[in-house]
Amino acid sequence: MSKKPTLKIVGTGSFLPDTVVTNKDLEKIMDTTDEWITQRVGIKERRVIGESGLSTSDMATFAGKAAIEDAGLTAEDIDCIIVATITPDMNFPSTAIFVQQNLGAKNAAVFDVSAACTGWIYGMTIAEGLILSGKFKNILVIGAEFLTSLSDINDRSTYVLFGDASGAVVVQPADGDRGMLGSYIKSNGDLADLLWSYGGGTRVNKKVSDQEKMFDENGIDKRSTIRMEGNKVYKYAVRAMIESAEKAMEDAQITEDDIDMLIPHQANSRIIDAIAKRVNMPDDKVVRNLQYMGNTSSASIPVALDQVRKEGRLKDGDVLLVAAFGGGFTWGGLVIKM
Ligand code: ACO
Repeated sequence: MSKKPTLKIVGTGSFLPDTVVTNKDLEKIMDTTDEWITQRVGIKERRVIGESGLSTSDMATFAGKAAIEDAGLTAEDIDCIIVATITPDMNFPSTAIFVQQNLGAKNAAVFDVSAACTGWIYGMTIAEGLILSGKFKNILVIGAEFLTSLSDINDRSTYVLFGDASGAVVVQPADGDRGMLGSYIKSNGDLADLLWSYGGGTRVNKKVSDQEKMFDENGIDKRSTIRMEGNKVYKYAVRAMIESAEKAMEDAQITEDDIDMLIPHQANSRIIDAIAKRVNMPDDKVVRNLQYMGNTSSASIPVALDQVRKEGRLKDGDVLLVAAFGGGFTWGGLVIKM
């Protein structure tokens, strides 16, 4: 017998930029191969903002608008907007402020969440608390990333991984047996050195050792690009995904036999294989869009969720398990009866 649901998802939406960059395109601009990327990561192509002139808040707005329409609501019905992103439009105000403005959601309180690839799961868990407090009734939770804005063309081990996208859901208080049954979020600041980007942050003043990390051996400024210890991230990622799935199911008081679909964060097909194996999910129950989207951080799960709903693969009453990990380290999972 599962727990009573807290919030329910009443609408989903997503946005992918038009420009496609294939592995073959990358072969022409850097020392890499389609074979290496396909085998090591599982990505064949990614969608990128490129020359379109869009920002993160534009993408978030498109996904948010689609989710509000899908829910049969108007922007004025939305009383809270949470945008999970690590690629904000500015240091401040928040990206959510521009989404509010674009949508005309004038009755909303809005803010951003920074939890890297786990950001949307953090956003949903915060939304759960806000719904349970009784203060909000229609919350828009968006994951939106312009990750290619952090890509370093001189670093082939990260450049090939990322794409741009946004995904959104509208959530309301649950009133029946459908909705969020379990949630789990966790962080470990000791692992901050594995995955980071300084951007315009104040840590630039912090300490000499950090200053040294801002320039590579050729004196190239690395402050505005993503840095990652891929091998170490990989090891923690598998553990973190498994813990997230297990703890979310425990919180929901269900077992893997009750799960109809798994949407893991789309970072690497080998990581997806590992978690699918551990929670005994056959391939047809595991959602993968990594091959044509790349890693879109906080957007990857809400985009996949919108896709499987609109394709009819995920039906009302199905039990969905999602799990993610990301820079920080952060990790977490959700169980949702649709
Ligand atoms: N093309 C060709 N060769 C490459 C490329 C490339 N794009 N990138 C690296 N290589 C080479 C390396 O130079 C190295 O060569 P060497 O042996 O001659 O030194 C070799 O491939 C192996 O490199 P590794 O880094 O050991 O490769 P690995 O198998 O670990 O794969 C990868 C790298 C894909 C990054 C993997 O470690 C991984 O997926 N890690 C997890 C990353 C992740 O999930 N991050 C998500 C978080 S993102 C966020 O939070 C925003």
